[in-house]
Amino acid sequence: MFYKISQALIMAKSVTNSLTKKVIQKPDPSHHEIIYDGKPMLTETDKSGVITYVNRKYVEMSAYTKEELIGCTHNISRHPDMPRTAFKDMWSVIKSGEVWNGYVKNLRKDGKFYWVDVYIEARYDENNKHIGYIASRKPVSSITVDEVSKRYKEIICKE
Ligand SMILES: Cc1cc2nc3c(=O)[nH]c(=O)nc-3n(C[C@H](O)[C@H](O)[C@H](O)COP(=O)(O)O)c2cc1C
Repeated sequence: MFYKISQALIMAKSVTNSLTKKVIQKPDPSHHEIIYDGKPMLTETDKSGVITYVNRKYVEMSAYTKEELIGCTHNISRHPDMPRTAFKDMWSVIKSGEVWNGYVKNLRKDGKFYWVDVYIEARYDENNKHIGYIASRKPVSSITVDEVSKRYKEIICKE
C-alpha cells in the first residue's frame, strides 16, 4: 500500500511524446527481470533530454516502438525504484560537461524491468556546438544489482 502511494507521488503515470503528441500510459511495474545481454544499447537526446535517436537494442529492451520513444524523454523508461536524487546528480554532472556513470533500473512497456550501467556525456556538432547528450550502456552483475537495489531503497526512504 505504502509502495503504491509513494510511487504515485514520485512518478507521473504517463508521458507525452513531443513529436506525435500521443500520451503514453506507463505500466504498473512487475517483479519480472529481463537480463541485458550487453549488445550495444545507445540513445541520443537534445539538450533538454528529448530522445532523438534509439538503436535497435534499446528499442528491444524498452519494449516500446522507435516511434513511441523518439520525441519522449527517458522518463518513459523511469522505474519507481530509481531515486530522484540519482537523476538530479546525473543532470548536474552532464550539464557541467562531465561524463556521468551510474546504475539504472529501467521500466519496460510490459512492466518488466532491466538493469544497466549507463554512461552519459555531452554531444557536439561539427562546429563544436553542444547539441545534446549520448548514452551507452553495459550489463550489471547480479551481485552489484543486489547491492545497488539496497542502496537505492535506503536513498528513496530519505527523499
Ligand atoms: C542521454 C540520456 C539518457 C538517459 N537515460 C535514462 C534511462 O535509461 N532511464 C531513466 O530513467 N532516465 C534516463 N535519463 C534521465 C531522464 O531524462 C530523466 O531525467 C529521468 O528519467 C527522471 O525523470 P524526470 O527528470 O522527468 O523526473 C537519461 C537522460 C539522458 C540525457
